[in-house]
Amino acid sequence: MFIKTCLLLLLCGIVSLSAHGYEGYKIYDINARNSFEKQLLLRLANNDDYDFFDMPRSLEAATRVMVQPKDQEAFEQTLQRFSVDYMVLDENMGNTLQQDQLENKSQRLMSQRGADRSISFTAFHRHAEINAYLDELAKAYASRVRVETVGKSYEGRDIKTITISNGDGKSGKNVIFLDAGIHAREWIAPAGALYVIYQLVENFIPNADLLKNYEWVILPVVNPDGYEYTHTDSRMWRKTRKPAGTCKGTDGNRNFDFHWGEVGASSSSCADTYKGQTAFSEPETQIVRDLLLGLTGRGKFYLTLHSYGNYLLYPWGWTSDLPSSWRALDEVAQAGAAAIKSSTGTKYTVGSSTNVLYAAAGGSDDYAFATAKFPISITMELPAGGTGFNPSTAQILPFVTETWTGIKAMAKVVLNKY
Ligand code: ARG
Ligand code: ZN
Repeated sequence: MFIKTCLLLLLCGIVSLSAHGYEGYKIYDINARNSFEKQLLLRLANNDDYDFFDMPRSLEAATRVMVQPKDQEAFEQTLQRFSVDYMVLDENMGNTLQQDQLENKSQRLMSQRGADRSISFTAFHRHAEINAYLDELAKAYASRVRVETVGKSYEGRDIKTITISNGDGKSGKNVIFLDAGIHAREWIAPAGALYVIYQLVENFIPNADLLKNYEWVILPVVNPDGYEYTHTDSRMWRKTRKPAGTCKGTDGNRNFDFHWGEVGASSSSCADTYKGQTAFSEPETQIVRDLLLGLTGRGKFYLTLHSYGNYLLYPWGWTSDLPSSWRALDEVAQAGAAAIKSSTGTKYTVGSSTNVLYAAAGGSDDYAFATAKFPISITMELPAGGTGFNPSTAQILPFVTETWTGIKAMAKVVLNKY
């Protein structure tokens, strides 16, 4: 017993060194019941010390906030003073994330045993493993798969796309472009992109229809520096890693040059929604920009995976006005939501970003739609797991399977219409 405890402590000691932080951090679940309380939350959200996992919007929706120990007293006092309804969802994120990390490590080890070229959906994979999987597919399925290094992240990691076709050799086909992982901590999003790749490549025959007159270009990890940083240092990191002012990192999804910085983005380099020093200040967003612009004309459907919240969002993200073609966007998104609803019962909210979530300019979705002329452009916010961004390893497969159901349904509408 004694030895066991020591071993556990030792193990935890080692792990906590590598996975610093969040010791004593609490997650609050806050229920704003009226517009006064909502205003209060919006004011609190301006404080960069509070990490609002989702932003207060509709009155019914609860909001999750992560608060570090030194701010908890003041935070709770403010809520209590105005009798805002809240509960503590997690007493100590440090513990929770340590457990997660142990579990993910052992799952990764297990899935590496007897390793073939395929990837597992029982663990979250490191960026190098993801790139290696793409390269192995390119080797094993040379007639249907092309992998390209489209650039390097700020810290020098290879950013790769995989282009998937049916191998009929015809060129100039229409394109579905899918990306994920622009926000580092949203681990389920790259897992979702990998599952799409796995289905289209390794399970080609039943999915051949999806590749008949279309190619898919998939970029599974837009922001590998941030993604790796969430594995090695700080699990709740969201941004890129390039230094900016006194802090590091830019919110990639505020960095695109369409109404850049006009709304829902911060000018403070320490904020999680920092818009960047200039539009396209980040090598990672430049890479997505160039891919999108290179596909103008052929690119019919841009889909970007995020988490969390169960949303299918379409333009605009910078204004509450709707684009004139909103019915076409809505039809695709509704098809995705309906397919998911009937497969698992999971409910997705469909609408324009600004109207159902919040206004935030400089997103990749608005850019793809307005500038790169993709007629359909959608942000998919996958479901929450754990306290939001940290689904357990057991949740990966059910989440990505359900996501694939929605993506297939949306792709089918696009395939038939464009
Ligand atoms: N959760 C995403 C974000 O905050 C939503 C983006 C929606 N699109 C937009 N252009 N605002 O980045
Ligand atoms: Zn996101």
